[in-house]
Amino acid sequence: MRPLIVIGNWKLNGSLARNQDWVKAVAHGMESGIPSGRKFAVCPPFPYLQQCAQLIKEHSLAFLNLGAQDASAHSSGAYTGEVSASMLTELGCTYVIVGHSERRLLHHEIDEVGAAKALQVLDHGMTPVICVGETADERNSGRAEAIVCGQVAKQVNVLQDRLADCLIAYEPVWAIGTGKVASAQVAQDMHRAIRLRLAEFDEDVASHVGILYGGSVKPDNAIELFAMPDIDGGLVGGASLNPQEFLAICQA
Ligand code: PGA
Repeated sequence: MRPLIVIGNWKLNGSLARNQDWVKAVAHGMESGIPSGRKFAVCPPFPYLQQCAQLIKEHSLAFLNLGAQDASAHSSGAYTGEVSASMLTELGCTYVIVGHSERRLLHHEIDEVGAAKALQVLDHGMTPVICVGETADERNSGRAEAIVCGQVAKQVNVLQDRLADCLIAYEPVWAIGTGKVASAQVAQDMHRAIRLRLAEFDEDVASHVGILYGGSVKPDNAIELFAMPDIDGGLVGGASLNPQEFLAICQA
């Protein structure tokens, strides 16, 4: 049985004061009970990881894991501006997002770079959240499934059975930050296609890997999305900035 996982991705948002209020509000909201059999995480920007780790500890939010939004494909050396997986482990991260479409688009990251980052993350005992997804043009031209399964195949080539320790996030690019959520059925169909593609490699891996949906997840669409048999939770951007919305999605 795969657990339901909700991961908040703050992207380039937050401040020392705002983060403090967010953690306080989440701690308060969870006082009435934490849904069992679920996992939760939040991915603040790098400079706030240590602060958030400290706040999580202060508020005894053991159920809330810490994640990072990226990691270097290299372990150390002359890579100005990069952050290594070993540094993220030291700060208490459990999850690391790799290959997000914003990294692909704005930083020209290709699948192979995402896979190299995922290997670094795995080597340091954390869980990579590998993002895949098609653009609006790719969907409109009927190539969505081929594009996404092609992205998954590249991860399979590099990661092989280590994929069993990864999460995949299906994030249609046209749904990210646009308010245009994929319908639960459209998302389910793609999640199923991803799982079938993984099963071509290894059926056991396919049945174990959690596949999260991302792209305009909100409290009012989370229930229907999470009820789908191949959707194992959500990677939540905009709505995770609001503690009440994040909590509502965690409880959906
Ligand atoms: P969104 O972002 O929820 O704001 O659409 C999701 C993501 O990019 O992970």
